[in-house]
Amino acid sequence: MSESIQVLFVCLGNICRSPTAHGVFMRHVNEAGLKKRILIDSAGTGDWHVGRPPDSRAQKAAKGRGYDLSRLRARQVRPSDFDKFHYILPMDEQNLADLERMRPAWYAGHLGLFLDFAANPDYQEVPDPYYGSNRGFELVLDLIEDASRNLLRHIHDTHIDPIFTNLPGDSVGG
Ligand code: 4NP
Repeated sequence: MSESIQVLFVCLGNICRSPTAHGVFMRHVNEAGLKKRILIDSAGTGDWHVGRPPDSRAQKAAKGRGYDLSRLRARQVRPSDFDKFHYILPMDEQNLADLERMRPAWYAGHLGLFLDFAANPDYQEVPDPYYGSNRGFELVLDLIEDASRNLLRHIHDTHIDPIFTNLPGDSVGG
């Protein structure tokens, strides 16, 4: 498959959770040598913070784990995102419901909660950290790092190297 796989992370403001997912997943993809095969973006369902960099608390927490979010700028989800992205991955149920309302009937990509890819079964949503403490931003990173590892494995095994990774007898999901 020569076409690149395009992934869009979505939250409410595009200044805390989805830019964190953008930065974390980008590093996983770069370290796997797949940056030309997997393209990443993030957006918010709301428009309050359009054009702004990620929240300083999100940037600080991410920097503590070596992720640089400083060059990202918030934008709002647009209808044409459904033309472009193979995976649209909201952070919580409200984001998912808002996207389901925008979803064109023909969209054949994957629209679903990002944490559906996580190994940790304790959380289905990435909790909104905006009105909380710094601990909330660390939890956001924990959940996103987990889901990013498994999303990368899923995209690799499904779209990039399905023949060599899904040989008969291979353990599933290992
Ligand atoms: P995010 O967090 O959706 O993770 O970017 C929020 C950012 C801003 C607001 C809410 C959540 N807000 O109400 O402005």
